[in-house]
Amino acid sequence: NKVVLAYSGGLDTSAIVPWLKETYQCEVIAFVADVGQGDAELEGIEDKARNSGASACYVVDLKEKMMQQVVVPAMQAGAIYEGDYLLGTALARPVIAQAQVELALELGADAVSHGCTGKGNDQVRFEGTYAALAPQLSVIAPWREWPYKSREDLLNYLAERQIPCAASKEKMYSRDANLWHISHEGGELEDPWQSPSDKVWTLTNSPKEAPDQPLEVNLRFVQGCLNAVNGRQGTLSSMLSELNELAGTHGVGRIDIVENRLVGMKSRGCYETPGGTLWYRALQGLEQLTMDRPSVQLRKYLGNQLAQVLYDGNWFTPVRHALTAAAGELAAVLTGDVVVELYKGQCTVVQRRSPQSLYSEAFATFEDDDVYNQKDAAGFIRLHSLPSRIRALQQTKGGQL
Ligand code: ARG
Ligand code: SIN
Repeated sequence: NKVVLAYSGGLDTSAIVPWLKETYQCEVIAFVADVGQGDAELEGIEDKARNSGASACYVVDLKEKMMQQVVVPAMQAGAIYEGDYLLGTALARPVIAQAQVELALELGADAVSHGCTGKGNDQVRFEGTYAALAPQLSVIAPWREWPYKSREDLLNYLAERQIPCAASKEKMYSRDANLWHISHEGGELEDPWQSPSDKVWTLTNSPKEAPDQPLEVNLRFVQGCLNAVNGRQGTLSSMLSELNELAGTHGVGRIDIVENRLVGMKSRGCYETPGGTLWYRALQGLEQLTMDRPSVQLRKYLGNQLAQVLYDGNWFTPVRHALTAAAGELAAVLTGDVVVELYKGQCTVVQRRSPQSLYSEAFATFEDDDVYNQKDAAGFIRLHSLPSRIRALQQTKGGQL
């Protein structure tokens, strides 16, 4: 028996390794996805996994894949959940779970396992991907099976087995980090009347302490895909890192929301998406310049739908394919430069230009122009307002037209 576990090196998955071995008499292979959670989490992780009892540990770099396959299409559509959440955790899950399944198949494993609780969205996202890509694999979700309830329980469990673990007893936030964002939940944040303390945030400066000088950043896009930052090209992950740095310094990209989980409950989270916020806003600036009104409305609709598909763990479905295909089609005009000003937590589009621009000063101007004859507006308005005119006539004539 072989189980491939999505392993993070944290307390939960460190306890899951021995628990799987005891409960299922199986060999446990640790699978670590590098999605840009940072060196602190990844350093020494192979030793850690083996010390917990894993027979092997595979670390797979998925950063660029996540950017190309999920982040770019999500941004082309402008995917945002419940108006605020740029989906940082949800964007990484399909890529992580897919790579985990690939490893499981390669190694001839019988089962896959993860450390998500039975109350959250993440279990649905992992298992949604397992189901779509390898329905024959068994799924083991320890949090839904074992009797343990708390950090304390897990620390005791590890201590009894003399398995080393650096995790502290003190209750910290539940965090999930990748290149795109970091989430903070739990602890005192579970009280929505409790404002987040300064200890919560890790990627961004407090807007109050951000530099007094605003900073302008130039983002270039080609067909809705980030192409250069301040004129410099690079991999998507390196350009995002740069945006994270700049936006983080200026306190941009913090949100504090109460959201609706797929499993029915509301939860409160504080999320930081510095570079992503910049990216999202810049594309909106470009959209305003290059898309006609029905396109803007359709993009908004697609963004909402895709956000829900992502949030709900339905990346590997026909509806997602259809949504990203449509959004990709619309994004063909999202080419150009946008300058965004960062200042004390604010992120404002201040310049935009595009070879696809539909904006014309010559048409919009209050001066004379050639294409727009003001006299034409009279007939347009008569027909546009015809329903109102008919209704008013009907009312004044007492129902007789
Ligand atoms: N509530 C957010 C979401 O559903 C963040 C989840 C964070 N996940 C975690 N394992 N800490 O996407
Ligand atoms: C978890 O419950 O494992 C994390 C939170 C979530 O998945 O929504």
